[in-house]
Amino acid sequence: MGVKSNGIACTVLFLLGQSPIFPLCFSAANQPHNSRKLTHPTSDNRLGSSAVFQVQGNVYPLGHYTVSLNIGYPSKIFDLDIDSGSDLTWVQCDAPCQGCTKPRDQLYKPNNNVVQCSDQLCSRIHLPTSSQCSAPDEQCDYEVEYADNGVSTGVLVRDFIPLQLTNGSVILPRVVFGCGYDQKFSGPTSPPSTAGVLGLGSGKASILSQLHSLGLTRNVVGHCLSGQGGGYLFFGDDLVPSSGVIWTPMLSSSSDSEMRYSSGPAELFFNGKPSNAKGLEVIFDSGSSYTYFNSKAYQAIVDLVTNDLKGTQLTRATEDPSLPICWKGAKPFKSLRDVKSYFKPFALSFAKRKNVLLQLPPEAYLIVTKHGNVCIGILNGDEVGLEDLNIIGDISLQDKIVIYDNEKQQIGWVSSNCDRLPNVDRDFDDVFSLPYAANFDVLADS
Ligand SMILES: *[C@@H]1O[C@H](CO)[C@@H](O)[C@H](O)[C@H]1NC(C)=O
Repeated sequence: MGVKSNGIACTVLFLLGQSPIFPLCFSAANQPHNSRKLTHPTSDNRLGSSAVFQVQGNVYPLGHYTVSLNIGYPSKIFDLDIDSGSDLTWVQCDAPCQGCTKPRDQLYKPNNNVVQCSDQLCSRIHLPTSSQCSAPDEQCDYEVEYADNGVSTGVLVRDFIPLQLTNGSVILPRVVFGCGYDQKFSGPTSPPSTAGVLGLGSGKASILSQLHSLGLTRNVVGHCLSGQGGGYLFFGDDLVPSSGVIWTPMLSSSSDSEMRYSSGPAELFFNGKPSNAKGLEVIFDSGSSYTYFNSKAYQAIVDLVTNDLKGTQLTRATEDPSLPICWKGAKPFKSLRDVKSYFKPFALSFAKRKNVLLQLPPEAYLIVTKHGNVCIGILNGDEVGLEDLNIIGDISLQDKIVIYDNEKQQIGWVSSNCDRLPNVDRDFDDVFSLPYAANFDVLADS
């Protein structure tokens, strides 16, 4: 099945009898404590300090991948959309709020912990035009604008986020994030159904950069999004495979408040042959569920696929309003497996380094919808105002470990089964479900 709920993914894992993955899956399935250890393939005994998060969600029908982040002490859980296309993490705010979609008891309540304009991090973020920090003791307001033109405005706060590290320690760093009191989203992705956004970008205001500044993790983040739904996310480099990863240099960006993961101009191939879509500026954006190309490249993709289907029994279908290019067969399709043999692979080739290809097999650009049609999951970016920005979204990042290494300034990927964790030299005890009472290494601010 191409589309499955995350809860089922855990069950599937358990039935396959694989190594222990996520304690929450196993405790939910009421399994006894499992003490098997995963061994580190490189026999590198260096104590790791990475944080790993279970990911939930899917491209279709949900349209987002999320993690549950504990915030505060005592902590409360927030489901946050994981977004490698932005830096600042924010949660919906229990303050007079416009555009909040969660009930009040699921909002974040500031507790005398508002960040002031004099704070160093306040100068690293984008200030709203309406409030420009005219005095050092004013509250530091933020504004994040997303590629789809959605905007979240709010105030910066500083609070604890309890984290379980791969070296076994549980830590309690204090980090800065946004309390969003005004969310304006329009268009197909609105309004946000999650409690907020976990910004994975490399800007100074991201939680990852702050953990790195506190000396807690490497400035590396990665995700593995399963095509079955779910997956995992990590801060730090313990889960980066020691071989097989394809790396390409990250294009460095000049702006401190807006960093995007881009790998320079790319060329599109179809079934191994070059297309006329060249010089594409692409960004890796886990906050977008579909992939977007400018209208010229988009049209080339639609034409290539359509021409290639001539003479097959697939006919155009129009029941799926959000995905414009679809086909139906003699019978409704149940999963991509029924139909993927009709479709050829695309690939993106990156000019910055020779022979670096991001393979896009049919699974990386097709969706089987609830109507049993197969649709292209690549959309026209010009229609949503992206102009010349091309976005590689979740659909094309699935079933790969995708790594953003901000220290070596490179982006990497390798095919992987995202339903299990690689490289972990300890199993994950049921720490996530324990109360955060004992054994804290409480870390002071830098
Ligand atoms: C694990 O890593 C953290 C952060 O680097 C460190 O503070 C802690 O002491 C480490 N714990 C162990 C058991 O080595």
